[in-house]
Amino acid sequence: MDFFLTKFDESWDTPTNLDEKMKDLKRKQAELNALKGDTKSRTTAELHPRKKLKKEVELWLENVERINGEIEDLEQKIGENSFASRGFLKGNVLKKIQEVDELYQRGKFHNSLVVDNPGWIGQALSTTTLFGDAAKTCMEKIWAFLMDDDIQKIGVWGTEGIGKTTIVKLVHNQLLKETERFDIVIWITVSKEMNIIKLQNRIARAMKVSLDEDEDETIRPGMIYEMLVRKGKYVLILDDLWDKLSLEEVGIPEPSNGSKLLVTTRLLDVCQYLDCREVRVPTLSNPDAWSLFLKKVGEDVSNHPNLLPIMESVATECDGLPLAIVTIASSMSGVRDVHAWRDALHELKRNGETVKKMEEKVFQKLQFSYDRLRDEELKNCFLCCALLPEDWEIETDELIHLCIAEGHIKEMDSM
Ligand SMILES: Nc1ncnc2c1ncn2[C@@H]1O[C@H](COP(=O)(O)OP(=O)(O)O)[C@@H](O)[C@H]1O
Ligand SMILES: [Mg+2]
Repeated sequence: MDFFLTKFDESWDTPTNLDEKMKDLKRKQAELNALKGDTKSRTTAELHPRKKLKKEVELWLENVERINGEIEDLEQKIGENSFASRGFLKGNVLKKIQEVDELYQRGKFHNSLVVDNPGWIGQALSTTTLFGDAAKTCMEKIWAFLMDDDIQKIGVWGTEGIGKTTIVKLVHNQLLKETERFDIVIWITVSKEMNIIKLQNRIARAMKVSLDEDEDETIRPGMIYEMLVRKGKYVLILDDLWDKLSLEEVGIPEPSNGSKLLVTTRLLDVCQYLDCREVRVPTLSNPDAWSLFLKKVGEDVSNHPNLLPIMESVATECDGLPLAIVTIASSMSGVRDVHAWRDALHELKRNGETVKKMEEKVFQKLQFSYDRLRDEELKNCFLCCALLPEDWEIETDELIHLCIAEGHIKEMDSM
């Protein structure tokens, strides 16, 4: 009998005592969840692009989730049991208290929560979605060349504003998943002011090595060469190459053993000089150009059927050039007055007749959009952008500070 009473006492508790134990469990659970919250905040701070969460931290966070679910089930079970039989769940509650205690102790991570991510081969770039089959076909062609072991150098060429950078950025982001095939993917925006020294510095920086500015000019190419060869299989993307480039002078090895060089340029000459496989980016087809135009001008225009024919004529003036479409449609977005659209068409046609060269045509489209900025401050703000390097990602705050410093805007409220 004594034995039975002892056993009973071990596995049963009065409902009041059980409630107390449950309160204890909930208090400890709250502490555990507070620790989970702190750990999550720490992971946000420590998880930089080249890092990944330690397995033990990942597992701990999963366990906290699991135990939260189990405690919820236990509470439900206690609620469903009759007053007296609830007492038999004492063992389950005590076990959970112990588990929560242990998990809490294990969650006090004193060291860093992250380790280097060996799967990191490059930084993802921000992009936009592309319209049209032409761009898709280009991407597929570039991709096929990159995956072809017999092709080492690829040159994507086409006029300014046709979408080269955007297409290659999307390819770049896709390449970052090819961690088995490549060891590093490097993106360099070259543009007009770039010279050999700057290019070498940028390549070195992308590999997290600093190259001494006054290092001997004959040594520098060798250093770049060694860095790239040592990295293993690389994809080096040079966006917007303005002129013929001697790989030897920079120190870029002739890609071999699976490494690739991918350049974008306005000039076919540049591709030919480097002996690249060429991919020409064509203009948008009429239906694709019209879809992009509609999206940028605001799709509510379908409620204004009288505007559609004149808008189509304006879209045609853009010659299938994405930059022109995006710029003109955006500057006319919200304009629903037929006279304003007629004026715009007239202006574009008149200016279009005077320019023949593609580069000037692009400039003329930008001018059209610039003229439509609503006040001088905005115009100055736009011009401020020209002070920043080409293809630079402009942060709004950075631009506002620049405009204030240049005296172009007086108050933040006016932006
Ligand atoms: N196929 C496309 N669909 C939608 N937008 C596009 C397309 N191609 C280019 N753009 C847009 O046109 C602009 C110019 O493109 P960009 O890639 O910078 O041209 P490029 O590098 O050839 O000068 C960008 O704003 C880009 O988002
Ligand atoms: Mg570009």
